[in-house]
Amino acid sequence: MPGCYVTRRDTLRWTAFALAAAPVGLGPLVAPRRAGAAGTGAVTPAHLELVTLTEDEAILTWYTGATGSEDDLGRMEPAPADAEVVWGTDPARLDRTASSDRTDTPYHQVRLTGLEPGRTYHYQARSAGLPVPPTVFSLIDGNAVSTADGPAPGTGPFAFTVPMPPPGRFLFSVVLCNDLHVGETVAGRSGDIPGLEGVSQAPGLPPYPEVMFRSVAEDAARLGARFLLAAGDITAEAEPVDLRTAREMFDRFGERHTDWFLTRGNHDRAHDGDPYAACRVGRWQGHDCFADQFLPDDEPGWIATEAHGLRVLGLDTYDKPGKGSDSGGLSDDQMEWFRETVDADPDRPTVVFGHHPLVVEGSPYPVTDGSTLDAAQAATIVERYRANPGVFLHHAGHTHRNKRSDLPGAPGVVHQEVAAVKEYPGGFTLLRVHEGGYALNFHKASSDEAAAWLERSRTQIGHTWPQFALGSRVSDRNLVVERDLSGLEAAPASPDRATTAPPAPIPASSGSDDGAPPVLLTGLGLAAVTAGAGGLLALRRRRSGPPPATDVGIDDA
Ligand SMILES: [Fe+2]
Repeated sequence: MPGCYVTRRDTLRWTAFALAAAPVGLGPLVAPRRAGAAGTGAVTPAHLELVTLTEDEAILTWYTGATGSEDDLGRMEPAPADAEVVWGTDPARLDRTASSDRTDTPYHQVRLTGLEPGRTYHYQARSAGLPVPPTVFSLIDGNAVSTADGPAPGTGPFAFTVPMPPPGRFLFSVVLCNDLHVGETVAGRSGDIPGLEGVSQAPGLPPYPEVMFRSVAEDAARLGARFLLAAGDITAEAEPVDLRTAREMFDRFGERHTDWFLTRGNHDRAHDGDPYAACRVGRWQGHDCFADQFLPDDEPGWIATEAHGLRVLGLDTYDKPGKGSDSGGLSDDQMEWFRETVDADPDRPTVVFGHHPLVVEGSPYPVTDGSTLDAAQAATIVERYRANPGVFLHHAGHTHRNKRSDLPGAPGVVHQEVAAVKEYPGGFTLLRVHEGGYALNFHKASSDEAAAWLERSRTQIGHTWPQFALGSRVSDRNLVVERDLSGLEAAPASPDRATTAPPAPIPASSGSDDGAPPVLLTGLGLAAVTAGAGGLLALRRRRSGPPPATDVGIDDA
């Protein structure tokens, strides 16, 4: 995937993609169409997207640029404008108006609130008196603005149908995020392929991975998320300086294994070289600075947690030797732990998170072996899901896109790829748990700095990136599933966290509501290692015996 490691074979695939896309005007390698002559002072709106759709709210975003202009990224230069949405239940009578109170920004977000579940609404977004066209989808089916199937041409009105809420009482919510890539300075680079060189932050602004996670943490706190799961690629190359930065950001959000849990991605693997020399020797290769920062006392990279009755299993999907571009994999002892742990409580409502997806489907971009977990291991995991009907959600990162897939081998499980924190569409998915089901809703990071970076980074891969990353359907990023979760417990929203206070006085724990004492679980080779005041229990399986010796680099990245 862009932003990850590219083998020679991947380079050939990407080059073929670029060559095939350019001549037929599919967007890459061509500048965006201009709406008028340069220098008119006029504003042109673009990139309308229906990002978030819940049972009572729709969040729309778009961009305004200086008409006829073109900046170094091949897009219109940003130009502030007003923002409003006219909407209603009759497409011929859009009798309601929602406006942004901001006229000083080119990055627009308007919320339609008070929606009625089950109703279909029609809307048109406007800036400077002009209707806003949607983000163009030419490589894939679907659209960015409507729950209707197929393309959404023109400037609307567009339609969406509001989902019903998950049945029953709301219990608590959880943030699902991944791919922060702290330390990365170029987004969307695919080797040295012409036209796919990637995008950098604007001069003088803070590093984009930090801008993005800061906003995600603030948004998550405002939404009252009970805790946060980060599914790998926390850093760009697992350097100590970047791991320290990441750790400080997470610590400002809350307390490890109470407010946040994370797992390793391929970018976080042990590396060779001078920056890593002082870190512990890696299990598979090099020196493991990720483990030094996030896995104290020789903890393994996988984790089991129980919160408010919900079991959460975190997988280390690069628990293997390699240079990062090949398929993900679990070690034999991690796989054994996974089987034992998931089988130990088959009906327990369970969420699994880990970096590499089990499947990747419906991609307009080349899909390689490195896009997913090892196929045989993925099949084994799906088999265990089928045997353990309590599992209902698998959250993956790595692809940097929003995509919901069904797992034919485990019909009760939703497989949700979540877009990266660090780049367009840049944000997180909020899992809202109710007694009778759950909702998944993607939220773009909302700070001004984040919005500016999102509009820069959408130009990746010759401006085709949104067609891959946003999700081809509204339901790839917004979903409601009915199922019996009545055995779970309600939890109050977490109190405000000191997400912006620099630098890092560690805030008070958010979880003091139930005072659950630490619990030591025995059997199955499990031992409790942490127990947060909020009643969370992190479990680990102690490694048995020395790790297999290996130093194999298995690809040519
Ligand atoms: Fe990544």
